[in-house]
Amino acid sequence: MTTIGIDILKAKQLLEAGEVVGVPTETVYGLAGNALNEDAVLKIFQVKNRPQFDPLIVHTDSLDKLSQIVTEIPPKAYQLAAAFWPGPLTLLLPKSSLIPDLVTSGLDTVAVRIPRHPLILELLSILDFPLAAPSANPFGYISPTSAQHVAQQLGPLIPYILDGGESTVGIESSIVGFEENQPVVYRLGGTSVEAIEEVIGAVSWRSHSTSNPKAPGMLKSHYAPRKPLYINDKERILRRFPTDKMGALTFTQPLPHLPLAHQRILSPSGDFAEAAKNLFAYMRQLDALPVEAIYAELLPERDLGRALNDRIRRAAASE
Ligand code: TXA
Ligand code: MG
Repeated sequence: MTTIGIDILKAKQLLEAGEVVGVPTETVYGLAGNALNEDAVLKIFQVKNRPQFDPLIVHTDSLDKLSQIVTEIPPKAYQLAAAFWPGPLTLLLPKSSLIPDLVTSGLDTVAVRIPRHPLILELLSILDFPLAAPSANPFGYISPTSAQHVAQQLGPLIPYILDGGESTVGIESSIVGFEENQPVVYRLGGTSVEAIEEVIGAVSWRSHSTSNPKAPGMLKSHYAPRKPLYINDKERILRRFPTDKMGALTFTQPLPHLPLAHQRILSPSGDFAEAAKNLFAYMRQLDALPVEAIYAELLPERDLGRALNDRIRRAAASE
């Protein structure tokens, strides 16, 4: 069984011994292992039950160290790094031979980011290797935003979880790559498209695609709670289930006909950042309620609303 604590040296020792450890980041909790040790990386895939065709993000704490992980940082990537790191942005860059193929699922780019949480930054600063870390959830389930979420699902499988409190951003990093030097957003996340475009100008983006060879992990059915989650046909869905067997996830206001105890309001003041911070925790809470189904409202399609809607649509995709 796992231990939850704030002992960075213990986390360091376990990682140096090739173990995997739950780590806090500002986006979501990660399941970290030595990115340069194939056995540790294999353990990450096994613990998550994640297919090996779905590559991992490599975390480091400085641009200096990044230069050993990637062979090139194009000017626009550098501008983004300067503007958003440490923070919720991942860049796809040409990988160096130091990074095992297992980490990138054989792709010639590696996903890299400098996270913003002080505990993982301190941990990275005392390690002499970068950390491969996917979100610390079983493959296909909602990402964890607290040490307790990690323990609930992966507790029996990992020795230690570093507790950094609740993740402040609450959704995963945005992923940006380059095709013929043109920036492409592959995953909408904690850094909005608007903020990215302010730094490097217009970008194209791909969201919610079922088959995306550049980001094979972005399967449609993802982030899914176990209860069926509906986003369309509100009236029909509300008629279909008894009122007391229905949960709801809304942006600013509760639905009038359902019990308040079965509803979660992402941000009463309509603040996207607050909504992002609450999204996954609220999905978990709704999943645990004695309801048969969940109705979720989409947010306005701008700012972080786009990334939140992307998560909500994927959660509903199993319908
Ligand atoms: O915020 C985050 O990014 C969190 C924290 C822990 O850093 N990590 C995270 O990792 O969300 P994960 O493994 O759950 O999602 C990483 C995504 C996957 O969809 C994967 O397919 C994509 O990144 N990815 C990784 N390497 C890639 C590459 N070389 N090319 C394209 N997509 C890649
Ligand atoms: Mg994930």
